[in-house]
Amino acid sequence: MTKRPRRNRKSEGIRAMVEETRVTTDDLIFPLFLIDGVKKQTEVGSMPGIFRLSVDLMLKEIEECLKLGIRVFDVFPAVEDQWKDKHATRSYDSEFFYLRTLREIKKQFPEATIMTDVAMDPYSSDGHDGLVRDGKIVNDDTLEILGRMALAQADTGIDILGPSDMMDGRVGYIRELLDQNGFSEVSIMSYTAKYASGFYNPFRDALDSAPKFGDKKTYQMNPANRREALIEAALDEQEGADFLMVKPAMAYLDIIRLLRDNSHLPIAAYNVSGEYSMIKAAALKGWLDGDRVMKESLLSIKRAGADVILTYFAKEFARSLRS
Ligand code: PBG
Repeated sequence: MTKRPRRNRKSEGIRAMVEETRVTTDDLIFPLFLIDGVKKQTEVGSMPGIFRLSVDLMLKEIEECLKLGIRVFDVFPAVEDQWKDKHATRSYDSEFFYLRTLREIKKQFPEATIMTDVAMDPYSSDGHDGLVRDGKIVNDDTLEILGRMALAQADTGIDILGPSDMMDGRVGYIRELLDQNGFSEVSIMSYTAKYASGFYNPFRDALDSAPKFGDKKTYQMNPANRREALIEAALDEQEGADFLMVKPAMAYLDIIRLLRDNSHLPIAAYNVSGEYSMIKAAALKGWLDGDRVMKESLLSIKRAGADVILTYFAKEFARSLRS
């Protein structure tokens, strides 16, 4: 035998030298769930270790994470039913706790990079990402609401907007509005290939944001489709997206690779709630080594071509690196 690939695996030193992919805390975005009030924290039942936090505790959490090297956060609001309506009015009310908290975060931690979510579902009494009329999710009238929401979020000083709604034309619509209103520096990380997935349930649990009727299949992509992701990617690029995202991550590694090979933009992947919960559940039962499987999963997502990974494991990963 002249070729023995095992020679490059024979020691820790050699293995480290030929290692092709490495995940660092710089690659990660940590999603956080915000609730109204003070000194409040409630664990998400289906996401062990993940809490909805009130502003004071969220500031503490961000401070801790910054020390661990996590610098980018995606903040989602858990809105009480009484504040939800058909038009997601609270989403652009500058006095509402979400927008107030974003301002507070940027004031206390200007060095933290803050991302927000642009979609109606957390504020909608219908639990859909767009406006519902006669049982249908209407596209163009939703854009107007998303535009208002985007401007209100940008006005708090956040860094990146994440349109997760999957309405057609929203990236261009939001980009233009931002530029017209003096927010040309605010980035857009578009949920480009967001699939109608069963892996979002724990997130909907966290925000109590499940659709009140039907499903999201008329706007989120069919999990069977690959070519269609290229159509979405081309549109988002033309419309001015700064990042393209694939969501979920682990069951869609081929889509991550597809976008990586077909775009020069940074590719993000959202390692979603259900992916977190599966690993946590198995680890709690003692069926998997949670720490090892977490790292292997993040590695697989990066190896598939993701430059950026949104993951509920961010803090745990950073801690684990330290120890
Ligand atoms: C809302 C939104 C969802 C997620 C991020 N933004 C849920 C959905 O589309 O139903 C899912 C995130 C996760 O599961 O971790 N538009």
